[in-house]
Amino acid sequence: MADWLTSPDFGRQDRIMKLTFEDVIQDITDRLTAGANSRKSAMHTAVVATADCDVRVMVLREYDPALRRLRFHTDARSPKVAVIRDNPLVSVLVYDAEAKVQIRMRGQGIVATTSPQAEAAWDAATNFAKRCYLAKAGPSSVSAEQTSGLPDWAEGINPTDAQVADARQNFALLYVTVTEFDWLYLANTGHRRAKVSVTPDLPGWTADWLVP
Ligand SMILES: Cc1cc2nc3c(=O)[nH]c(=O)nc-3n(C[C@H](O)[C@H](O)[C@H](O)COP(=O)(O)O)c2cc1C
Repeated sequence: MADWLTSPDFGRQDRIMKLTFEDVIQDITDRLTAGANSRKSAMHTAVVATADCDVRVMVLREYDPALRRLRFHTDARSPKVAVIRDNPLVSVLVYDAEAKVQIRMRGQGIVATTSPQAEAAWDAATNFAKRCYLAKAGPSSVSAEQTSGLPDWAEGINPTDAQVADARQNFALLYVTVTEFDWLYLANTGHRRAKVSVTPDLPGWTADWLVP
């Protein structure tokens, strides 16, 4: 993270006047990378919205700045997967209250279930995390009784490799390739906001300052 971003006087008028679009893009990269890599980051969880106007919290697993691509993990049976396959428009929101930075993103979602990347992510997950994908019915299914969705034998255990093997079929990656970032920094001296649009010729971009 750039020193000036973490400095307590980042919001000082003389410093904020020197802010450039490159600083904004670097800040977005640093914060999303930290969000993906640290559970302690406020940006470790994101609000993901789909074209059906539904929203949900998801854990940010990776940010690839070269591709401007976010990675999430999900259950292939969940309603959002069907919605994204039908209409790939996705928006993602993160906010760090301590840093006073909000990042709104619009992009294209794609779900991968059988790719080498999905295989690698599954292999890297703990059996405890894999256990979630053992649920008998997909997320958001109606149940006659309150339930974790898990089979009885899987409740409260850290399962073995053999026990979670069948869960692999329910595991999916959700990639969101961001086409537009909206960055807002709240400063006592005057807020700052920038919109960065990705142009087709990666790594190209255009940017505008916006009234916050
Ligand atoms: C802190 C937190 C983290 C979550 N992480 C994920 C996640 O990484 N992937 C996921 O599919 N759902 C995650 N969920 C659950 C979703 O918010 C949502 O309830 C579930 O995916 C069903 O969503 P859907 O019916 O919109 O498909 C998380 C919920 C919370 C509260």
